[in-house]
Amino acid sequence: MLERPIPIVPTLRGKTVVNLFFEPSTRTSTSFAIAAKRLSCDVVNFSRVASSVQKGETLLDTTRNIEAMRVDGVIIRHSCPGAARFLAKRINAFVINAGDGAHEHPTQALLDAFTLLQKIKTLEKKKILILGDIAHSRVARSDIWIFKKLGAEVSVCGPPTLIPPYIEEEMKVKVYFDLDKALPGMDVINVLRLQLERQKRGVFPSLREYRRFYCLTEERLKKAKKDVIIMHPGPLNRGIEIHPDVADGKRSVILHQVRAGVAVRMAILFLLAGGKIEKEKRE
Ligand code: CP
Repeated sequence: MLERPIPIVPTLRGKTVVNLFFEPSTRTSTSFAIAAKRLSCDVVNFSRVASSVQKGETLLDTTRNIEAMRVDGVIIRHSCPGAARFLAKRINAFVINAGDGAHEHPTQALLDAFTLLQKIKTLEKKKILILGDIAHSRVARSDIWIFKKLGAEVSVCGPPTLIPPYIEEEMKVKVYFDLDKALPGMDVINVLRLQLERQKRGVFPSLREYRRFYCLTEERLKKAKKDVIIMHPGPLNRGIEIHPDVADGKRSVILHQVRAGVAVRMAILFLLAGGKIEKEKRE
C-alpha cells in the first residue's frame, strides 16, 4: 500500500491513538505516527517535557486522563520495564509497547523479522548473530524471541560485561566474546547500539577499546559470508559499534528496516484498532 501513488486508506477513520513517549525516539514514534495517518487514524503526539508529568503526575494518572478524552489506543515508550503491561491491565484502550527500559521492544522485533523474511524468505536454520550491548538492549531480548520462534539459530557476541550471565541457559543462545570467532558462517549480523545512557558504571575500559574489539568494519567482515545481511535498529553510533562503510554498504538493510517499520506498525494498528483482537488476547 505504501508504494501506491496515494498511500492512504480510510480503514481506521474516526479512531485516535496517542504516542506516549517518555523517552526519546525518532524511528518508532515517527513510524507509528505515519502508520496511523496512512490508515486515516488520528494520532496525537504527547510531549513529556511539555506535559504535567513535569509537575509530578504519575504515569497511570496521565494515561487515565488521556483515556478519558476517548482515545482508542496508547503507544507507550518508557524507561521502566513492564510499563506497557502495567497500563494494559488498568485501562480499556489498547496499549502497544514501543520499548520498556532494557526489557522488550516487540514492534522492532516484528519489523526486523519482516525485513529478513522479505530478504531471505525463511529464518529456518539461519545463523543470526546479535552483536554488542546485549545487557542493556530491549531489541536483543525481543529479537531473540522472534528469531528463535521462526527457526533461526541465534548467537550473541560482546564483552563479558555486556552479556547477561543467564542468557545462554535461559534464552538458549550461543555466546561469543571474540567477534572474529563469531563471524564465520553467519547469515545475518544485527549490530546493537552501545547504550551509553543506560550503563551506570564503566563496563569496558574505553570507547577506543570497545571499537578495537567489537566495531563491525569492512576488514572484519572479510571473515563473514559474502552475502551476510547487516542490520542495526538505530540510532547508530557511527564508528563505535559499526563503521560507516558497513552501515552504508551494499549488505546493509538498515533503512529497509525503517521502511518495514511503517508497514508492520500499520498492521499492528489495523489489528488492534480495527477490532480484530479482543482485550484478553491483546495481553
Ligand atoms: N529502533 C528504535 O527504537 O529507534 P528509536 O529510538 O529512534 O525509536
